[in-house]
Amino acid sequence: MRKPLIAGNWKMHFTVPEGLEYALQLRRDLEPYSAVVDAVILPPAVMLWEIANALRGCAIEVGAQNAGWEDQGPFTGEISPKMLAGWCHYLLIGHSERRQLFNETDEELNRKLHAGLRHRLKVILAVGETLEEYEAGRTAEVITRQLNAAVYGVELRQATELSVAYEPVWAIGTGKAATPQYANETMGLIRRLLESPFGALASEIRILYGGSVTPANARSLMEQPEIDGGLVGGASLKAADFTGSSRRRLRCCSRRECERTRAGTRSRDHRRLGLPSGAGGQRDRRCQETELGRALGAMAAHHPGRGRRARRSTGGSAGELRGWPPQYRRRADRLPGPDPDQPRDSRRKLQAEPGFAAGHD
Ligand code: PGA
Repeated sequence: MRKPLIAGNWKMHFTVPEGLEYALQLRRDLEPYSAVVDAVILPPAVMLWEIANALRGCAIEVGAQNAGWEDQGPFTGEISPKMLAGWCHYLLIGHSERRQLFNETDEELNRKLHAGLRHRLKVILAVGETLEEYEAGRTAEVITRQLNAAVYGVELRQATELSVAYEPVWAIGTGKAATPQYANETMGLIRRLLESPFGALASEIRILYGGSVTPANARSLMEQPEIDGGLVGGASLKAADFTGSSRRRLRCCSRRECERTRAGTRSRDHRRLGLPSGAGGQRDRRCQETELGRALGAMAAHHPGRGRRARRSTGGSAGELRGWPPQYRRRADRLPGPDPDQPRDSRRKLQAEPGFAAGHD
């Protein structure tokens, strides 16, 4: 069975301190879902490494929003899949903003897909038709072209590392999501197209819907049999109040609670939420959908603009990373710092050592 995947595409939002603080909030709030939903955040490249470190050992994974296809070389401004390998889990390619604003072609995306898979990244390939193409009834033609071109030459053994995001361009950032039926139908086509190169493995590839997903419409979309999750842009950033009671709801859907339910203990929270319960009750699709909807809600809940803001340091000791969340300031404190009693020349030597933090006097 395909495990749902929710990806939060931060696009070009947040400063590094804000992104870090937000990621740590998501870690607390999304981890309870990890048994039933894979969650990945796609921060801007500049903060990817720090956020990957902050989330290390936790179920929330990180991914890059884009990468080139070469391993290295004279490609100013580009990052390579090789640079992401080993610590970054996902790579998104083919987002319509990349295709349209940065003129990325099907052929380039095929090269990016190969490069990502070669470096063991889980690649999310985005496809989708523009409004013009949609209105001209060309959706199937466009999706077929984009998908076939991108997966050309991908080997069977790599297929399960691939996910596809169907994102109708007219639904992205417009507040007008595709109807669940339309999305499901198009995603059914995508699965049939995947069968041609990958055979039975196509049924293991996750297909996500993206385009104005919000906590309000997530459930009706996720109920569709072909929709295995969401690629969420705006709603992965927007604030919503996230209170102690919603934490309780999160806990309610954790595996432990569901197992309790299966054993016949109907918890108060399950009753309140109308989740399945009773002896022999299944931890069924309905329960999962509820969890999935809440996961999206949780992702939308912590925009630093309305939540706690990244705290600014008000001066402080040598070694503080000013303006960074406290966890990082503490980490900076653990970095080797100079002993003020040391003679000047040995301090200089220490400063020359790799890993010595800027900011230590
Ligand atoms: P949206 O963006 O959710 O804001 O429509 C989705 C995306 O661009 O991936």
